[in-house]
Amino acid sequence: MDRILIRGGNRLAGRIHISGAKNAALTLMPCALLTDEVLELGNLPRLADVDSFMHLLNMLGVSTMTKGSKRGAEFGRVMTLRAKDVSDTTAPYDMVRKMRASILVLGPLLARMGEATVSLPGGCAIGNRPIDLHLRAFADLGAEIEMAGGYVRAKAPGGRLKGGKVAFPFVSVGATENALMAAVLAQGSSIITNAAREPEITDLAECLVAMGAKISGIRTDTLEIEGVERLHGAKYSVMPDRIEAGSYACAAGITGGDIELLGAKTDTLAATLAALSDAGLTVEETTDGIRVAGTGEVKPLTLSTAPYPAFATDMQAQFMAMLTLAKGTSLLTETIFENRYMHVPELNRMGADIDVRGRSAVVKGVGSLTGAPVMATDLRASMSLIIAGLAAEGETQVSRIYHLDRGYERLEEKLQAVGADIERVGGG
Ligand code: UD1
Repeated sequence: MDRILIRGGNRLAGRIHISGAKNAALTLMPCALLTDEVLELGNLPRLADVDSFMHLLNMLGVSTMTKGSKRGAEFGRVMTLRAKDVSDTTAPYDMVRKMRASILVLGPLLARMGEATVSLPGGCAIGNRPIDLHLRAFADLGAEIEMAGGYVRAKAPGGRLKGGKVAFPFVSVGATENALMAAVLAQGSSIITNAAREPEITDLAECLVAMGAKISGIRTDTLEIEGVERLHGAKYSVMPDRIEAGSYACAAGITGGDIELLGAKTDTLAATLAALSDAGLTVEETTDGIRVAGTGEVKPLTLSTAPYPAFATDMQAQFMAMLTLAKGTSLLTETIFENRYMHVPELNRMGADIDVRGRSAVVKGVGSLTGAPVMATDLRASMSLIIAGLAAEGETQVSRIYHLDRGYERLEEKLQAVGADIERVGGG
């Protein structure tokens, strides 16, 4: 299995092109199931999760074709997807187990085909992650739900969902996406309240509108949808990855570096940029993106994760890595997932001083980190180990890097370009 080797201590400086957002790509691709016409998605990142999702869609009968962008490798891929005929309506266990986002085919399948079957996802590295809110939303739109053999089958009586009221008891990104994709083809109007407002949901809603959907309230927590008979093809470009941008910003912070994040958009990154600035970094919008520069001294922070527009749970691990070297004690609180501190023991093995107390982690800044062999546990946790390794004395070896390949496009290449001593090696 491949590993990543980092010899830490280099100050990172230069420009990094931010790729298309993984989480937006994974909710835009299933939109292809909603029409028999062609959906063309641009700026798709080259990521293992995008490839897995493509295979899942292929299994359902969607034909796909990818090509490089005419503007160059840094502008991702262009994928044309066409679900002329949907041949299968099941998201099987093997796919859902590997990639939880597979459940995002449910809403569109149910809307277009009147039925969808999905394996229950089971536990995953960052917590229990049930799908009850997704299923409740489908039931609110008239679906009948039954469970058997570890699978959930949703069926629309008469073959078509009906408009309804979906009131989420708490905010869920995936359930909002599934409900929205289901409601656009339902008969009559629907209203989704307490909807997630993540920029990836805005991307989804705008793509659906480009396909002929009638949605109002985009960017708010109340989405109103007037169901239409059919949707048509469209061309849509995936938004830049705000989590990738924030991750490289933390790498700039911990190395006292100066990085311009090309293509990054300030409006989707407000909470991250505010936290970076509170940590003492210079943050400024440039013509081509955002420049983030550290001074070599990181200030401690008190941060709590919460749904957008608040500080993202997907940024927690990377900030924690940066704050291990802060001048003082930071307090991080995780409110979204119950088991999202698996990077803590690994960071402590590198010399960090982090103490987890329930949902909070107390991070006492230390003078230095030392390189060590560490193991990646999930996507963002893996990135926190890379960030720590970039500042640690000596060599850090990160194993199980398939997690990183799920969500960071050309990671080593991008970091090498700004001066990091990092390489991928085979074996181990
Ligand atoms: C998405 C993102 C993930 C991010 C998360 C929160 C994708 C592919 N993934 O995940 O990177 O960390 O949003 O911003 O876009 N929950 C339930 N029942 C449900 C659904 C969710 O209890 O039916 C709980 C979850 O266990 C969690 C919370 O709700 O505690 C929020 O999860 P949710 O927003 O749904 O996350 P995902 O959509 O899975």
